[in-house]
Amino acid sequence: MAIILPDLPYAYDALEPYIDAETMHLHHDKHHQTYVNNANAALEKHPEIGEDLEALLADVESIPADIRQALINNGGGHLNHALFWELMTSEKTAPSAELAAAIDATFGSFEEFQAAFTAAATTRFGSGWAWLVVNKEGKLEVTSTANQDTPISEGKKPILGLDVWEHAYYVKYRNVRPDYIKAFFSVINWNKVDELYAAAK
Ligand SMILES: [Fe+2]
Repeated sequence: MAIILPDLPYAYDALEPYIDAETMHLHHDKHHQTYVNNANAALEKHPEIGEDLEALLADVESIPADIRQALINNGGGHLNHALFWELMTSEKTAPSAELAAAIDATFGSFEEFQAAFTAAATTRFGSGWAWLVVNKEGKLEVTSTANQDTPISEGKKPILGLDVWEHAYYVKYRNVRPDYIKAFFSVINWNKVDELYAAAK
């Protein structure tokens, strides 16, 4: 067995005009495929550890030292992107009443949550991700990670994530990351976020 690139759950142009088809082709077919290939190359060196990336990245010290960083980068890259594709949709969705109440209780309002998430995505220097996670206390938290680091390695369960690597937005948005972040809020698949929240809390 090996890790395989999952198909997008929608057409490449489904998220237009917010996320363009050319970006989706490059991002999914080239960037994500490369993470998959490199993760498999690392895993092949240590068949004894299996291929459960979530379990491995939840305890990075358990990963053999000679492939640890390769798996953090590429195993993380695969998990983050596989999740990211599912977190977007062309359909109109909204948070469940339960998730909406948890967002209000944690951040004050949906608008304040959006501002906190936008700030995390905007201020992540260089390449990385912005996240809404369920933390170890079972509470919602906005955070960000560098590179392809996953919140799973910090004991947190990601329920919403935004890729802020330049490869995610440069074709359409050039250097204007804030416009891309704003557009993302028009394509979030809240049904998927609800599902992940229910499983995580
Ligand atoms: Fe990416």
